[in-house]
Amino acid sequence: MTPRLNDSTASFSPNQTKQIAEDFAKTLKGGEVIFLEGELGTGKTTFVQGAAKALGYGGPVRSPTFTIVNIYPASHETIKKIVHIDLYRIKNKSELSALALEELVQDPNSVMFIEWPSLLRPLLKTKPKRIIFEETNSVRKIEII
Ligand SMILES: Nc1ncnc2c1ncn2[C@@H]1O[C@H](COP(=O)(O)OP(=O)(O)OP(=O)(O)O)[C@@H](O)[C@H]1O
Ligand SMILES: [Mg+2]
Repeated sequence: MTPRLNDSTASFSPNQTKQIAEDFAKTLKGGEVIFLEGELGTGKTTFVQGAAKALGYGGPVRSPTFTIVNIYPASHETIKKIVHIDLYRIKNKSELSALALEELVQDPNSVMFIEWPSLLRPLLKTKPKRIIFEETNSVRKIEII
C-alpha cells in the first residue's frame, strides 16, 4: 500500500479550522518549524489560535502583521514557547536577518508558526512542516504536508 503523505481537510468555519489546528498541535513535540502557506484571509492566523489553545496557551492570539513576531508561553510537557511570525511585510533578506530568527529556530522547546514564509525557506537547515490553505467559494481546504 502506498503510504499516505498528505492529508487534506475541508473547513467550513473558523471554529473548524481551530479544531483541525488543535488536532495537528497534539502531534507536535517541540523544535518544529511550521510554514503556513496560502492567500490573505484563508485562515492561517485562525489556525494558530487553535494550535496555541491545544498547547496550553489560554490568552488571545492576534495577527503579527505589524509586530512581525509574537511569542506566547505554552503549557505543555516539552513545548514551552509558541513563536508566531508573519513575514508578509518583510521585503528582503536584510530585513529578514534583522529579525535574528536563527536562535528561535534552534530552540527544541519552541514551536514556530510562520505565515508568508517564502523568504525564510532557503535559510532553514531543516525541512519545515507545511500547512497549505486554499479557499474556493468560502470553503477552506487545509492540507498538512
Ligand atoms: N473556515 C474558515 N477558517 C478560517 N477562517 C475563516 C473560515 N471561514 C471564514 N473565516 C474568516 O476568514 C478570516 C481568516 O482570517 P485569518 O486572519 O485567519 O487569515 P490569514 O490567512 O491569517 O490572513 P493573512 O494572510 O492576512 O494574515 C477570518 O475573518 C475568519 O473569521
Ligand atoms: Mg494571518
